[in-house]
Amino acid sequence: MEKIIELKDVCKSYDLGKVKIDVLKNINLSISKRDFALILGPSGSGKSTLLNMVSCLDVPTKGNIFLEGEDVSKFSEDELAMVRGKKIGFVFQQFNLLTHLTALENVILPTVFQGVSREESEKRAKELLSSVGLEKRIKHRPMELSGGERQRVAIARSLTNNPEIIVADEPTGNVDSKTGKIIMDILTDLNKKGRTVIVVTHDTDLRKFSSRVIKIKDGEIEPEK
Ligand SMILES: Nc1ncnc2c1ncn2[C@@H]1O[C@H](COP(=O)(O)OP(=O)(O)O)[C@@H](O)[C@H]1O
Ligand SMILES: [Mg+2]
Repeated sequence: MEKIIELKDVCKSYDLGKVKIDVLKNINLSISKRDFALILGPSGSGKSTLLNMVSCLDVPTKGNIFLEGEDVSKFSEDELAMVRGKKIGFVFQQFNLLTHLTALENVILPTVFQGVSREESEKRAKELLSSVGLEKRIKHRPMELSGGERQRVAIARSLTNNPEIIVADEPTGNVDSKTGKIIMDILTDLNKKGRTVIVVTHDTDLRKFSSRVIKIKDGEIEPEK
């Protein structure tokens, strides 16, 4: 399968004055189109840092990151933002919804600066919310929704710009295990429909959802079996 993301000798360090922390150490990793990759590791192992590199939220200290063949490792903030807006949908542990907006408005939000008409945005947002089973919740604000429903709104929002890649950082971290399964089933379904999905977690129970488990420990990737 064609590679969609490739990391070559990626290092990330933080310079905190007197001390320098090497968070990622020489990571070599490639993700193929339509992979469902689970990045598994204990707390503090560097998962979020790695996902931030993979999803153009941050750039490495050393090494190269290729996204569909294009080296994004030295991109500026603006260039990274452009790539993210076009290619990547984000799902976070804390949902990151805007509390004063309804589910529908949260899902519409990413289109506001894209020159799409309100009518069209609203139609698409309704379809996306229906696709995650929330057609009866579109007028609700996050406070009026359960954790699982909030995460489903966040998934719908991540799909607004029709990204090829979905990244999820501990997407089941704030929901119970039954709801976690619902979230993982939705991500599995999106993967079956052709999207590349990358999930980061410390929860070994999520292994069963993925065909590919990438283990990270102390900022290093373990060889895959
Ligand atoms: N901005 C930062 N500045 C300094 N250290 C950081 C920063 N971000 C993360 N770290 C450190 O990098 C390590 C890995 O963090 P993180 O990627 O968040 O791990 P995980 O997501 O696996 O829990 C931790 O020791 C953390 O303290
Ligand atoms: Mg993390």
